[in-house]
Amino acid sequence: MYTVAVLISGSGSNLQALFDAQDAGGLGGAEVSLVISDRGDAYGLQRALSRGVAAAHVPLPAAPSGSARHAARAAWEQRLARVVAAFTPDLVVLAGFMRILSPDFLQHFSNRVINLHPALLPADGGDTVVTSSGLIIPALRGAHVVTDAMRLGMPVTGCTIHRVTPRVDDGPILASAEIPVLPDDDDASLHERIKAHERRMIVQVVRDLAT
Ligand code: GAR
Repeated sequence: MYTVAVLISGSGSNLQALFDAQDAGGLGGAEVSLVISDRGDAYGLQRALSRGVAAAHVPLPAAPSGSARHAARAAWEQRLARVVAAFTPDLVVLAGFMRILSPDFLQHFSNRVINLHPALLPADGGDTVVTSSGLIIPALRGAHVVTDAMRLGMPVTGCTIHRVTPRVDDGPILASAEIPVLPDDDDASLHERIKAHERRMIVQVVRDLAT
């Protein structure tokens, strides 16, 4: 059995795509055995609980700035790593997990963490992406990349699944898709089209890694 832990912060529609594929026998023998959220109100936790899949809320406590915040964050990551490690997953999927994980966390799960990113990323870690039609567009990183694509008037954006390295929104690319920005798009419609691609891609990537 190839076990998968999924980390989320919100709706968990990509998590649901993994559950659905698993039910349909389309996940190559992989099984989601753990779902963790840093947010207690993340709907993805309900999706897990309603199936009897282990679900945990590991909140990042609010802390004053400076060294107290640093210590609180480090302690939170250690708790997170302990919970994930207890399930000895073969793969850790960041599916809408809106926190940056430090090298300390990543070293526990060396080369086993992958991330869904709702924009195109370059294979060389640079600041631009060359699209299939030869357009050079900015590589969007961070937590607001769908809004950024709209704000910058980009004609095309996309989504990427990559292995997670200590560099934020970087690392070897496992799959990506270009998605045009339509004239009447808003942030929500664009993000929904991106997520429709992501849901197909994450299933394919997990299946490929598991088989
Ligand atoms: C997805 O679009 C994912 O790429 C994005 O959050 C969404 C989660 O959707 N992740 C990030 O922005 C990470 N920085 P979901 O909760 O419906 O699966």
